[in-house]
Amino acid sequence: MKLSQVTKFIRSSEKDAVFQQPAPASDFSFNARVANVFDDMVSRSVPFYDEIQRMTCEMAKDFAQPNTNLYDIGCSTATTLLALDTYLPESVRFVGIDNSADMLAKAREKIEASGMKRRFDLIEGDLHQGLFLENASVVTMLLTLQFVRPLYRERVMKMIYQSLNDMGCLILVEKLTSEDTIFNRLFINHYYDYKRRNGYSDIEIAQKREALENVLIPYRMQENETLLREVGFKHVESFFRWYNFCGIIAVK
Ligand SMILES: C[S@@+](CC[C@H](N)C(=O)[O-])C[C@H]1O[C@@H](n2cnc3c(N)ncnc32)[C@H](O)[C@@H]1O
Repeated sequence: MKLSQVTKFIRSSEKDAVFQQPAPASDFSFNARVANVFDDMVSRSVPFYDEIQRMTCEMAKDFAQPNTNLYDIGCSTATTLLALDTYLPESVRFVGIDNSADMLAKAREKIEASGMKRRFDLIEGDLHQGLFLENASVVTMLLTLQFVRPLYRERVMKMIYQSLNDMGCLILVEKLTSEDTIFNRLFINHYYDYKRRNGYSDIEIAQKREALENVLIPYRMQENETLLREVGFKHVESFFRWYNFCGIIAVK
């Protein structure tokens, strides 16, 4: 499947209306209701989502080695895996990891419908419980570390670093907070304008923000970079930045 066809696939999910009606606040969860509309949600909520996927694929291709594993941690509905399938040699086995059974069911549905030929596994696993990876040349982790409780982040990063082969890479995409409250406020306002331009109402924006408050905990850019260096990555560079979103590549 070509990348443009994958993108069409992404657009084919139901429209996200999860936060349209006023409702009592509760923590955000990647449940069946969210999984059903997730592709629409993520593409209207993450600036340059398609371009981030493309950049991830290009850099994964730079580092993927034949007969190794590529892990997509927090694979959701397999959008990244399907995009990567158009770039990487078939001897690279794909493994998607997520703790949401509903997301993984969608992922399997999409992969099967795509006719992807390579070996793949989808594993239901909770990053808070640990992680087992082997023979990895590439690990992608897009918009997922931010959902791992800060107490566990170093352990997760250490495990990723230790399982990567030499010259293996981690591609990390995260939402950020800023040290400086002036910029933090400005960036968040510009982000909400972006969501309004993509059809979200003020009620939807406010209710989702409240639902995510205790669940999505963004780090500062510096904190992410320090974390990567402290677990051992020698080469760390940002490849994407849009207000409070960033992409970082780290090589062992
Ligand atoms: C924002 S989504 C990731 C989006 C996806 N990587 C993409 O590029 O479209 C975050 C994913 O991480 C998963 N997740 C959150 N916390 C997790 C945990 N503790 N262990 C494993 N997966 C987790 C969620 O179920 C969800 O599918």
